[in-house]
Amino acid sequence: MKTYNVAVIGATGAVGKEMIKILEERDFPVGNLKLLASERSVGKEAIFKGQSIPVNVLDNDSFTGIDIGLFSAGGGISEKFAPIAARAGCVVIDNTNAFRMNPEVPLVVPEVNPETIKGYKKRGIIANPNCSTIQMVVALKPIHDLAKIKRIVVSTYQAVSGAGTRAIEELEAQIKSLLNFEEPKIEVLPHRIAFNCIPQIDVFLDNGYTKEEMKMLNETRKILQDQSIAVTATAVRVPVFYGHSESVNIETEKKITADEVRELLCRAPGVTVIDDPKERKYPLAIHAAGENDTFVGRIREDESIANGINMWIVSDNIRKGAALNAVQIAEILVRDYL
Ligand code: A2P
Repeated sequence: MKTYNVAVIGATGAVGKEMIKILEERDFPVGNLKLLASERSVGKEAIFKGQSIPVNVLDNDSFTGIDIGLFSAGGGISEKFAPIAARAGCVVIDNTNAFRMNPEVPLVVPEVNPETIKGYKKRGIIANPNCSTIQMVVALKPIHDLAKIKRIVVSTYQAVSGAGTRAIEELEAQIKSLLNFEEPKIEVLPHRIAFNCIPQIDVFLDNGYTKEEMKMLNETRKILQDQSIAVTATAVRVPVFYGHSESVNIETEKKITADEVRELLCRAPGVTVIDDPKERKYPLAIHAAGENDTFVGRIREDESIANGINMWIVSDNIRKGAALNAVQIAEILVRDYL
């Protein structure tokens, strides 16, 4: 079998570690695996298929002989090193915000717009969307195809892991401090997250929305290839370690019933419907964590408008929202293009 040399850039981070796990789990045809991070990680190693692999420091020469580079070391690192990697002949799958809205870079969710991957040839870069957008479009795509979505109103309940390893550690430390009657330290997130909700993810823009909220508008339109969809989002950080939840309200052009949505989503790739509220069955972040699918429940008609649906969408933000989506893109890339 043909194999491919793969580099994981940001290999010591929350997403990078999961990428290594998923490459092994899905038996991706890896020839050599190169792990890259900053100087802080010199001396660290990771286990891949029973072998210990050292972490190297990322530099301009890191991409010689590499076929696929999975980037998750932050936007600045991608801006600088993705073009260098692409020039060295490595196809970049970038998990950051750096190239997502670049018209020459495909923005891909394999269940939704796999055909756009071919556009990688222009720049040698494929962008992985924002975690909150990925799980939302996986659930909404079949509905959009059938009933055409006109407007989306979404509120998110996002896990701290979306802000990286330091945010995970911050929630842990704050819980411990508070339970010991000590003052919690606030260093990574904008306010105390333990036993709290913060209606700010990323920075505020001039229109009063955060960057995270605007990503949900712009990326949804690009992925669904429909600039007419209206999207308004409120992104909230909650004291959950893994798994983003979303309350999503949609208005469609054609009437679609809750039963039809349920039926449609039961057949949708990458979606599991859990929707038996009387039995207290609906998606929960604690159940989605560690899973690959996007879970949908609480499907009901919005009685305040003619053609509206409400639903609750939950997925593991580090897996489907980042690492898994990137590896799925790589799978299509090697199957159809490399
Ligand atoms: P390091 O651990 O050496 O700092 P997270 O999103 O969980 O915070 O992880 C971020 C990832 O990005 C880590 O693997 C981190 O490596 C990596 N990273 C951050 N800054 C750099 C840099 N300047 N060069 C290479 N990797 C970096």
